[in-house]
Amino acid sequence: MGKPARELHIGIIGIGVVGSSVVEILQKNRELITARTGVEIIVKRGVVRDLNKARACTIPLTDNVDEVLYDESIDVVVELMGGRELPYQIAKTALAQGKAFVTANKAMLAYHRYELASMAKTPIGFEASVCGGIPIINALKVGLSANEILAIRGILNGTSNYILTKMAQDGWDFAQALQQAQNLGYAEANPSLDIDGYDAAHKLLILASIAYGIKAAPEEILVEGISEVAPEDIEFAKEFGYCIKLLGIAKKHGNEIELRVHPTMIDEEKLLADVDGVMNAVSVVGDCTGESVYYGAGAGGNPTASSVISDLIAIARSYHISQSLQPSAMLGFITEQQYSITPKEQIKSKYYMRILADDKHGVLEKITAILSKNAISISTFLQKPQKPAHTDSTPSQISSIGGLNQPECAKILLATHETSELAIQNAIKGLQALESVRQRPVIIRIEE
Ligand code: NAP
Ligand code: HSE
Repeated sequence: MGKPARELHIGIIGIGVVGSSVVEILQKNRELITARTGVEIIVKRGVVRDLNKARACTIPLTDNVDEVLYDESIDVVVELMGGRELPYQIAKTALAQGKAFVTANKAMLAYHRYELASMAKTPIGFEASVCGGIPIINALKVGLSANEILAIRGILNGTSNYILTKMAQDGWDFAQALQQAQNLGYAEANPSLDIDGYDAAHKLLILASIAYGIKAAPEEILVEGISEVAPEDIEFAKEFGYCIKLLGIAKKHGNEIELRVHPTMIDEEKLLADVDGVMNAVSVVGDCTGESVYYGAGAGGNPTASSVISDLIAIARSYHISQSLQPSAMLGFITEQQYSITPKEQIKSKYYMRILADDKHGVLEKITAILSKNAISISTFLQKPQKPAHTDSTPSQISSIGGLNQPECAKILLATHETSELAIQNAIKGLQALESVRQRPVIIRIEE
């Protein structure tokens, strides 16, 4: 490589929120990191899109990725630019050039992780791709590797958790909370990835590759985001001892793995219920360990940079020992497909449902008839007048259909016993077809 083995040269593509933190931490903790690895990690060059942007960064910058990809003195390419297909091309080129590759890019890995794994003859590090500063990848591929993984339940997206927390605890509206998450550098360049659940799905699939060898793409699993969660859903959850979190869930049932991402009502006594703001947490149930829970900052420059640098340190340590970039087992994916994914319609859950309907005689009967036709049984039922003239606006439990005021329309909030996704989706279709139901009913799954 034409330089002493004591140095590992890196090029960073993307010097934004995460990239600039990586540069800063490598400078601030240089002595500590060199003492821990026996190798000095040197940032040779950073790549940005706009060289005219004012920035505090002190490293040499270019707007030409080739100056990193084809620089023979660079050992490791660190991709922190975001996007999907361009980073994939960059990853392939870096690996083909014999460089190690480190990324925080879960969107790219969600689609291309197995292709990269099959071509890699040098290390690939992706600790930062799931849950920012939490070393969950290492926990799963090393710490828990003796276990059969029975279930993973995680708050995997910091932006959504921040929004839901601000709505529930401070009464913020959705748009205000999203704007603040963007200001704080938590959100993706395209924030719909955060709020529509796809960022969490990308992360869940990466975890599922390590735990189960799942090669699926995000479109093949059940994904719903938080944009329909309304204050009355949060109020209902509170009243019945739940809180609402966007969860990524993987569960093993025999040879099938159930994979889903959606807003979820969880018991407020559970550890995950206490995970607020940008914090993330992942509960992993192993057959030997039982449940273990990993908690920490799920987004933001420094926490994510900590994970990026942990990959660089792992590469530097092995480089120090072997003086080469060993084709290591850093990926940790199971490559043989042992499991199939549970078809979406067969997934079972309890459900909360919010229905906006005309508040007039006979409507509730029609609604309950549709639920009953789909073998869905109701466990809890509330009706909240939408435009009450003289009534209390907080929800109150009702015991009879006949005793209602007659506002223009009403919100009907109910929870069901366990049923299948197929039954609930058929019921939604049936309800939507009723003239007296004013919009598509909203559901939130309940996880015990
Ligand atoms: P960011 O702040 O938007 O920074 C992106 C950087 O990449 C910028 O420096 C940008 O250049 C550069 N860039 C973008 N497109 C480019 C192109 N075509 N050619 C050259 N440079 C380009 O993004 P970020 O928040 O740091 O996120 C980076 C990656 O980390 C993403 O994959 C994201 O999903 C992941 N991630 C982020 C977080 C977080 O909390 N932010 C946490 C975990 C993972 P300019 O500076 O000139 O615009
Ligand atoms: N946008 C992501 C989040 C960044 O909010 O969780 C961390 O992956």
